[in-house]
Amino acid sequence: MPQESVGDARRVSNSKLSVLRQNPIFRDLEPEALDQLCRYAKHTILKRGATLFAKDDPGNSLYAVISGTVKLSVSSPDGRNAILNLVGPGELFGEMSVLDGQPRSADATANTNCEIFVIDRRDFLPFVRSQPTLAMKFIELLCARLRWTSEQVEQVILQDLPGRLASALLGLIEKRKPDPANHTISITQQEISEMVGMTRESINKQLRAWAARNWVRLEHGAIVILDTSALRELAEAGTSAEE
Ligand code: CMP
Repeated sequence: MPQESVGDARRVSNSKLSVLRQNPIFRDLEPEALDQLCRYAKHTILKRGATLFAKDDPGNSLYAVISGTVKLSVSSPDGRNAILNLVGPGELFGEMSVLDGQPRSADATANTNCEIFVIDRRDFLPFVRSQPTLAMKFIELLCARLRWTSEQVEQVILQDLPGRLASALLGLIEKRKPDPANHTISITQQEISEMVGMTRESINKQLRAWAARNWVRLEHGAIVILDTSALRELAEAGTSAEE
């Protein structure tokens, strides 16, 4: 649950609200409609590790990340985790249950200290019904989620480790809308292994081989991508003998 609620969006600075305004989903809304949406948004601060919701919880809110990263993951009864997505500033999550009324499809945990906006389903649903352009944008978002998921299935079945790892790292930097030039990914090797479905040891071996070629730099809790073209070639090759 959110740990600290510091009031509604009217008391939140414009620079934070601009995260909502910059999201392509909201960009075409009339200014009055966007202001209305901003009035619904509650500003919340989460400490690293805090659980926002668990899989199968009722879906009562839509979330937008202002700063930090939220992890969307599922786990097996024996404690293994699969990370479905890491969402950062400007990105939305929790839209599936809000739109279809079904339970949450994954757990949401603060991966770093985070600031988020929370929009109540009871405010959001009437709002989206009154804004057909916005409804179309949400259809586009759901299509993007499905494409991302299809790509993950394709990678797991058809790509080898270097291709999967390269695709996952490129995916993480490319979807950063506000700051695509930032090539530092705050992620541990354990988390990468939970994203691509390979052991932490194999991930570590591959990353060290790439670091030796100056394709990446390994930092504590982060990876800096230095050569996107080299990784893109691997990702596009599908399979390769690179180790
Ligand atoms: P919801 O089901 O409400 O809660 C979990 C959220 O995780 C979900 O909405 C989406 O926002 C997000 N999510 C679920 N599955 C995926 C996926 N495969 N790829 C990206 N995001 C997902």
